[in-house]
Amino acid sequence: MKKLAVIGTGYVGLVSGTCFAEIGNEVTCCDIDEQKINNLKNGIIPIFEPGLEELVTKNVEQGKLSFTNDVAGAMKKADIIYIAVGTPMAENGEANLKYVDAVAKTIGENLNSYKVVVNKSTVPIGTGKRVFNIIKDSSGGKQEFDVVSNPEFLREGSAIADTMNMERAVIGATSEKAAFLIEELHQPFGTTIIKSDLESAEMIKYASNAFLATKISFINDIANICEKVGADVTKVAEGMGLDSRIGSKFLKAGIGYGGSCFPKDTSALLHIAHSVGYNFKLIEAVIETNNYQKHRVTEKIQDIFGDLKGRTFAILGLAFKPNTDDMRDAPSLEIIPDLVRQGAEIKAFEPIAKQEAFKHFGDTVNYVDDIYETLDGAEACIILTDIPEVFDLDLEKAKNKLGNPIIIDGRNCFSLEQMKELEYIYHSIGRPTVL
Ligand SMILES: NC(=O)c1ccc[n+]([C@@H]2O[C@H](COP(=O)([O-])OP(=O)(O)OC[C@H]3O[C@@H](n4cnc5c(N)ncnc54)[C@H](O)[C@@H]3O)[C@@H](O)[C@H]2O)c1
Repeated sequence: MKKLAVIGTGYVGLVSGTCFAEIGNEVTCCDIDEQKINNLKNGIIPIFEPGLEELVTKNVEQGKLSFTNDVAGAMKKADIIYIAVGTPMAENGEANLKYVDAVAKTIGENLNSYKVVVNKSTVPIGTGKRVFNIIKDSSGGKQEFDVVSNPEFLREGSAIADTMNMERAVIGATSEKAAFLIEELHQPFGTTIIKSDLESAEMIKYASNAFLATKISFINDIANICEKVGADVTKVAEGMGLDSRIGSKFLKAGIGYGGSCFPKDTSALLHIAHSVGYNFKLIEAVIETNNYQKHRVTEKIQDIFGDLKGRTFAILGLAFKPNTDDMRDAPSLEIIPDLVRQGAEIKAFEPIAKQEAFKHFGDTVNYVDDIYETLDGAEACIILTDIPEVFDLDLEKAKNKLGNPIIIDGRNCFSLEQMKELEYIYHSIGRPTVL
């Protein structure tokens, strides 16, 4: 049993803190956000993540998990301090390290015994050393400590399962003692451990996200060509994915990647490359393709309807992917304002992220709780997220509700045969249009 303080109780801190408690440690999750901590103390989970509420309740009841705003107090009691605060994109595209720096300073000011400080936030290469220096300066250099990089790979929407069954744990450290402690902490997960220096561990995280983003932009570029040459990208992806050197994952064409990680991490990596004088053309193109891809749906709507003024569209799904309430960098954040600017009216169905979406769109969107009512009388159905409710749609009933039998599908949820049979006009990504 180890004593952990996890600083930052967001998607990563809350999930990993809870999972570390679940495998037998004593974990205090800390945050500067008072409302968040008060809610957690009252059993209210601030984010949507399948299975999280049950696991939090269980570990709180067993006395292994607690929450506090007293960040300094929690640090003093811990043997291991995890940094899991946000590293959002700064205006110039690099990662903003102000939250990480602030935590490092607080750690230094409260360093009362040997601690292993572990960075779980996604941070530019060299941040481990930067954190070390901040702690050393603010602690006066009297107390021994180590800094470790242990990047996070969980996916929102399946974060608990991803953590409990993690495919690997990357441990970058400058001291054997600290690396061993964090390796021991991960033993109950039964995962593969990759040990490295600090810099390589930090780079593994950026390189992994950049590679996945590259796969997505690659298949989206292929999809755009498919549309012009009459090929079907889903068949192309299937044929490519069966090659074990390629693999079938992340080859789903759509309206581009979003979320709190890929956009900011690709941008940060590009910035890191520039800062060392390297022209990373590939990732620049990946970002450019992704920015263009978000507008494919709008282009299709304009091609079909021309003037959008006074036309009402039904949008299904607002979050960047199913099973999450995270709206950060969701494609809908660009597509909807684009349509609204052109005079379109928007009715939207979003099962999980409605509250978060309201913070962005306010009253410019009419949120409807029933999916068929959303479609009622609309010029077309526009699918922005492959939420389960889309797959469960009674397509006959949906057609009768819609003003026109038109679906513009940004996530390729339906087969062309099915759409033909149901006599829909069906526009999707990288596939022939069904007329
Ligand atoms: N969300 C993901 O899917 C994911 C996956 C892998 C890695 N990451 C990385 O993990 C990090 C955290 O991401 P997130 O999505 O959990 O962020 P988040 O915004 O959900 O949570 C960050 C939390 O840190 C708190 N915080 C900020 N400063 C603090 C301080 N000084 N002391 C205590 N708490 C403080 C904030 O109040 C917030 O609750 C980022 O670097 C991100 O890139 C995220």
